[in-house]
Amino acid sequence: MCGIVGYIGSNNCVPVIIEGLKRLEYRGYDSSGIGVLDHSKLTVIKRKGKVSLLQEIVEKDGMTSNLGIGHTRWATHGEPNEINAHPHFNSENSLIVIHNGIIENYRTLKTGLEKLGYEFLSKTDTEVLAHLIDSFLKRGHNLSKSVRFALNEVDGTYGIAVLYAKEPDKIVVARKGSPLLLGIGNGENFIASDVSAIIAHTNNVVYLEDGEIAEVYTDRFVTKTIAGMPIDKFVEEVSMTLEEIDKGGYPTFMLKEIMEQPESVLNSIRGRLLEETGDIKLGGLTGFEDRLSKVKRFIITACGTSWHSALVGKYMFEQYLRIPTEVEYASEFRYRDPIVSSDDAVFFISQSGETADTLAAMREARSKGALCLGICNVVGSTIARESDAGVYIHAGPEIGVASTKAFTSQLIVLALITVLLARRKNMSLEEGRALVKEFNSLPQRIQEILDKNSEIEEIANHYKDAANFLYLGRGYNFPVALEGALKLKEISYIHAEGYPAAEMKHGPIALVDENMPVVFIAPKDSTYEKIVSNIEEIKARKGKTIIIASDEDYDIEKLADHVIRVPKTASILMPVLTVIPLQLLAYHIAMKKGLNVDQPRNLAKSVTVE
Ligand code: M6R
Repeated sequence: MCGIVGYIGSNNCVPVIIEGLKRLEYRGYDSSGIGVLDHSKLTVIKRKGKVSLLQEIVEKDGMTSNLGIGHTRWATHGEPNEINAHPHFNSENSLIVIHNGIIENYRTLKTGLEKLGYEFLSKTDTEVLAHLIDSFLKRGHNLSKSVRFALNEVDGTYGIAVLYAKEPDKIVVARKGSPLLLGIGNGENFIASDVSAIIAHTNNVVYLEDGEIAEVYTDRFVTKTIAGMPIDKFVEEVSMTLEEIDKGGYPTFMLKEIMEQPESVLNSIRGRLLEETGDIKLGGLTGFEDRLSKVKRFIITACGTSWHSALVGKYMFEQYLRIPTEVEYASEFRYRDPIVSSDDAVFFISQSGETADTLAAMREARSKGALCLGICNVVGSTIARESDAGVYIHAGPEIGVASTKAFTSQLIVLALITVLLARRKNMSLEEGRALVKEFNSLPQRIQEILDKNSEIEEIANHYKDAANFLYLGRGYNFPVALEGALKLKEISYIHAEGYPAAEMKHGPIALVDENMPVVFIAPKDSTYEKIVSNIEEIKARKGKTIIIASDEDYDIEKLADHVIRVPKTASILMPVLTVIPLQLLAYHIAMKKGLNVDQPRNLAKSVTVE
């Protein structure tokens, strides 16, 4: 949720850190801070609000140093203000700490430290770490040992970075449940919570695992477990480029990411379709196909948008594989002592691969013997690394907080897995080949919908002042209704609900009057006739209807205030198309309200706290 970046070397760390913080701002953006160590003196500057405000003051101040750390915050404990922003000092101003995660036992630790005479300035759990580490330094331990001893007393999650004025040659970092990596440069090193913060400087990274600590010097690094055992870590090369995390001429990351879906979908299918045999090749599942074909039950867990793609996955798996599939919120799954065994395969869908609830759900399923499979976007993320096997969606970096291209690529991967396994069961060669063709034609079809951008923007003009919205769909398009409603809620702050279209009669219809826009996802598929009846029911109550309909469906006009047409494809792939107008509709409504779609209020891109 929060972002960490740091630098040690011979250049000025300040612009490196500010630039890195800007790239991490999508992770948390209520306040930020920077701390540098120069001639054994620590200086900290913090600001409430955007990193650009911090940058202004840092530049005015002329802050400069070869060693520093910075943080962008998404508040958990204590309101977003300057005092609660990181870094936090110890009492003597000789040590600073920045922290992502939550120290669950901070109250107990705080009481103990107060008894020792420590005074607290902020309302954060992080300040406890500064004083706790200090208490070990005072007992004569060096920085690295003091950090390890302090972390031994901590319950909860952390990615931390620490600077100590009396050891000005290093940054000490540690991780448990919150990502942290080292960037290895030439005569300079970096630390970050996300590779995008440092990719402008190096492609060589070392991922810390939970329970690991590193001392990072200008020209080397030393890694240990929190218990103090030395460990060897490998330097990995990441393939992300700077262009991938820039706006590329678009006004927002969200629009860029919506518009690049023909390409991101192409990347998700690239090299995975076997046209001749109508088969699918997924390297990440090689060797697991037999076990997967024989499992008694699939479970898919995820959060937010990824949970919506999981719901579509259920429809796919059950229709084509006839394997019972349960979909569960990761946050519920992890705490209800779920009935899971080695007969089950559990999928964990996560764009970031770092979502705390999804990660914890995976660890729970693993402890019960289930086969754990990750479907992630971020290469090298924790869920990707800890799962038994899995498939990357290859959507490319998604920076906009509202997930768009990751959703369509998740759907693609779920459909690929479905066809892979169905071909081993009873899907015919013809059907396999036909579906492979459909996959291949998706980028072009997505482009056709994106070409209707200005038409959709025009529709948004009519609804930017609406207070509520309903989204209704059936079958494969019911989860799309949920996703359309979530997109609108999170970026436009308009209240929106998604329902299975028929369920609307059992309550939500009471809300319908001439002021209620109702979005129907109604392509021509097996549920079409039924959903037309539902549209009639809304029209009879004067609701405004925006209908996502098939290209050739002209009859629908008479029931629609607005129609957005989508091309035809196989039902299993239809959600990849029908969601796109909903992304654009939400986008334009939010933009017309003058809102920041990339960083909507209260949200963060990667939710690494429970
Ligand atoms: O990184 P993940 O896919 O695990 O994230 C899950 C949710 O936090 C995420 O989808 C969230 O709901 C988005 N803001 C939706 O746009």
